[in-house]
Amino acid sequence: MTYLLGHDPAELARLEHQARLLAPATGTILRLAGIEPGMRVLDLGTGAGDVALQVAELVGPTGSVVGIDQSDRPLALAAHRAEQRGLTNVSFVHDDLHTVPVTGTVDAVVGRLVLLYLPDPHAVLRRFADRVRPGGTVAVMEYEMGAAGTVPPTELSARVTHWITESFRRSGLDAHLGARLAQVMRTAGFADVTTLGVQGYREIGDPDGPRMAAGIVRTLLPAIEKTGVATPAEVDIDTLEDRIARDCVDNDAILKTPTLVGAWARVP
Ligand SMILES: C[S@@+](CC[C@H](N)C(=O)[O-])C[C@H]1O[C@@H](n2cnc3c(N)ncnc32)[C@H](O)[C@@H]1O
Repeated sequence: MTYLLGHDPAELARLEHQARLLAPATGTILRLAGIEPGMRVLDLGTGAGDVALQVAELVGPTGSVVGIDQSDRPLALAAHRAEQRGLTNVSFVHDDLHTVPVTGTVDAVVGRLVLLYLPDPHAVLRRFADRVRPGGTVAVMEYEMGAAGTVPPTELSARVTHWITESFRRSGLDAHLGARLAQVMRTAGFADVTTLGVQGYREIGDPDGPRMAAGIVRTLLPAIEKTGVATPAEVDIDTLEDRIARDCVDNDAILKTPTLVGAWARVP
């Protein structure tokens, strides 16, 4: 399956911005899932390496992280960022998760915003779970995109959430995968799954929320148009970030980013 979002420079910048907003929630989920100093960890679909770099800090110099991704452009950025931060305990492998040779044992497997794009996430989870030592951890994170919007709800925020969730659905992807994550883990063979969703709220006047929402729509624009969810004129992408920001001010509305849901389980 082609990766829906692509990897041009603007998309990499968007992913970095998104990763900065997601870092507190990601760190919380990783710690609760049991990622700790000294662990050897695999990061599935590492992209520009944001989760791998966060894990590298958590496991410290006595632990290690290997990030795997099928796309070389974000991986080059990931390696560059690791070098800039002086992290020597993280490395990256350019390969497909379905076919990358799986050998040796690790303490944990993690993956954020990657299961969504896999035709058979259960098979990939099982494949990597087999590499985790007994008592080790598998922890995955995905969005519940339907949670995005505003409090109180506004017409524009409902429309933006609809453009996003519907273009995913019409492209054959589940925008609500986060909500179903425990079910995915159970189907992959994990018995005792813990799930936690972390909801971001952006205050009125905080530019990060409108930037994130408009950035997702900009990335999805080809899919939004191709699947007939909205026309370019309806989206008017170049004014969207400002319109969302103004909409929050005009309606005294707090912006909710998609919920990041984590699900994790111990390997028996
Ligand atoms: C939305 S990005 C998430 C990146 C990173 N995990 C994060 O949270 O910032 C999804 C990544 O999964 C990768 N990916 C998708 N399908 C893959 C596959 N079959 N094998 C390896 N990587 C894959 C894409 O190349 C992309 O970098």
